[in-house]
Amino acid sequence: MSEYQVMPELTPEEYAELRADIALRGVMVPIEYDELGNILDGYHRLKVCSELGIKDFPKVVRAGMTETEKLTHARKLNMARRQLTAGQKRELIRDQLRATPEQSDRQLAQRLGVDHKTIGAQRKELEGRGEIPHVETSTGADGKTYPRKPPTVTQEAPASAPQRSTTDIPEPLPIIHDKDTAKDTVIHKPVTVFNPTKREVSAMKKPEVVARMQEIGTSALNAEKQLNREAKAERKAYELTDDFPEEKCRLFVADIRDGLKEIADESVDVIITDPPYAREYIGLYGALSRVAQRVLKANGSLIVMTGQSYLPEVMQELGQAMLYHWTMSYLTPGGKSPQMFQKRVNTFWKPLLWYVKSEYTGDYVGDVVKSPVNANEKDYHEWGQSLGGMLEVVERMSNPEDVVFDPFLGGGTTGIAAMCKGRNFIGTDIEAGHIEVSRQRLKEEYGRCQK
Ligand SMILES: C[S@@+](CC[C@H](N)C(=O)[O-])C[C@H]1O[C@@H](n2cnc3c(N)ncnc32)[C@H](O)[C@@H]1O
Repeated sequence: MSEYQVMPELTPEEYAELRADIALRGVMVPIEYDELGNILDGYHRLKVCSELGIKDFPKVVRAGMTETEKLTHARKLNMARRQLTAGQKRELIRDQLRATPEQSDRQLAQRLGVDHKTIGAQRKELEGRGEIPHVETSTGADGKTYPRKPPTVTQEAPASAPQRSTTDIPEPLPIIHDKDTAKDTVIHKPVTVFNPTKREVSAMKKPEVVARMQEIGTSALNAEKQLNREAKAERKAYELTDDFPEEKCRLFVADIRDGLKEIADESVDVIITDPPYAREYIGLYGALSRVAQRVLKANGSLIVMTGQSYLPEVMQELGQAMLYHWTMSYLTPGGKSPQMFQKRVNTFWKPLLWYVKSEYTGDYVGDVVKSPVNANEKDYHEWGQSLGGMLEVVERMSNPEDVVFDPFLGGGTTGIAAMCKGRNFIGTDIEAGHIEVSRQRLKEEYGRCQK
């Protein structure tokens, strides 16, 4: 993986599609390097070329950029080209804001090719969570500093704010051809690898066929046949497993501050949850503590994932009705971990606070949990946690048939982990939309994890 790869890996489907396209048409978009030979853009194209034995592909070397400019450039290319989900786009914008919070919304908008209001909305969010500082001034494209409006006011530049002239727009970076391709100076040079039959072409238009060809090194037609056979078998298997156990899962809309009277006293084995982290939500941890004290069984545990910024206050709230037991570490490795500007910390872990109702007498438990690298799963909820990490937490902190409860359900990650691990699950959230998304997602993912 290149250090300038700002996006997660392509999904197997996306990768297969890219591979099929390159096999048929060659590399249409040049692979970009810096002057040291690091890949700025085109990591996946290069991987496909090496798999297909393509040596002659278009290259561009971009020289003279700073580290920040290289990352910005990589983000802009991804933003313009890849089919990103709204969540992925938001993450790219946030990464850019974390890297260069001092730059104005309009300047960042121009750099990333998005609307400046979109940048403003994300800036407000990150400032609110203390992830970037509220900078009083911003740097324009001309390198001068201008006053910025306070965060409570709309991010639109005031009519009187200095406007950049078109001459302020930075010149495109110099493009130097790689020495291997400089000879012919053609950079968008398609490469035809072989001449497939019509049937082969039609098979290779299916990403899953190309993925299978790549996986087991077979022809397109063989791969297609194999997949058809498997799909038939899977349809049969799905009919058998597509019975979501409704009786094991209860989801409903509720505000934790109302006490969650719908859940019986002493009926829950473990609460595993991830409340919002910003300062304005600290009071919710007190409400959580009181609900936990009532609904947990005598030997039950409350596991709370939280941020670091307000840890003392959070722990004070949680201690209202529950006993502190331990702090576990939830590792979040990878280059996309948050940078806490106010604290000047790049963070690669967060606390899993463990509270109990009375003395813990269960099995020994390891206190470090690791989420997969760069696992920012924001497709279902903008604060979504990684399913891989949550499966590990559920496995470690509960037993099959236990009742697991998440009162801040969000996109439903804890629920999927719990159901897939054979637990009963209760999930609540203040927002009806989140409950609906979680319900749908749970049914889909449950079918998958049963296979
Ligand atoms: C950090 S998110 C949870 C994300 C979740 N772990 C996931 O992986 O998708 C926190 C959730 O708490 C919910 N929430 C905020 N205030 C609440 C309240 N007073 N009662 C219940 N839920 C609340 C929000 O709607 C949000 O979905």
